Amino acid sequence: MKIYHYDTIDSTNAMAKRMILEGMREGVFLAEHQSAGRGRLGRSFFSENGIFMSMILTPERFSFDQGFLTSTVAVAVCRAIEEQGFKVGIKWVNDIYFEGKKICGILSEAVSMGAETLAYVVGIGINIGIVDFPDDIKEIAASLPLDENAKEKLFFGVLSNIECVLSENKATILSYLKKKSVVLGKEIRFFGVKNGEGIALDLDENGGLVVQTKENEKIVLTGGEISIRTK
Ligand code: BTN
Repeated sequence: MKIYHYDTIDSTNAMAKRMILEGMREGVFLAEHQSAGRGRLGRSFFSENGIFMSMILTPERFSFDQGFLTSTVAVAVCRAIEEQGFKVGIKWVNDIYFEGKKICGILSEAVSMGAETLAYVVGIGINIGIVDFPDDIKEIAASLPLDENAKEKLFFGVLSNIECVLSENKATILSYLKKKSVVLGKEIRFFGVKNGEGIALDLDENGGLVVQTKENEKIVLTGGEISIRTK
């Protein structure tokens, strides 16, 4: 797979989406810095130092439904980081946590023409060697202490783990997701599509979060955001 490497671009996801519209169906975009890094739910993503990458995947290569794409890639990223010797966990649905703080976010998007999905873009941002985070995220964000050599190893590790996870079945992916979840069994708050509080019980077959609400109702979250209650 061809790798397009930049020092700085606006956003590797935005770049990949532009290239899909020009006909590209395979490739990886990697940037050292992003001037307009994008996160989920219309947020920006702090992109000062780390691995900022986006991979183009066709629906033929990823055969599950799009809702499961972020979770599948989270498994690959988690494994790649663990191969570098760090113990990390997955905070549903798109964050990788290290020592209780977010070190990586994942943003999957589809590019469609009418009803047809042309391709998916999977964007991964891993914070590396950041000393000063902006005030609004410094309590919740962390970064991995890696030198240039280890950073390059991690990038190629992410690529090879994505290739591996794409050939696995759903049961294997789900079992890893459950094992690495930092959310299951915890009291959470949920926002966005639905708002409330409850206990995160399980993941369903599409990676949705099964929650027992405070009102004693069982619901499945498929989008939005959660936070773990610390009391
Ligand atoms: C999130 O935490 O909400 C998701 C963040 C995803 C960030 C990555 S960095 C590479 C790619 N390009 C972007 O603009 N966003 C993703």
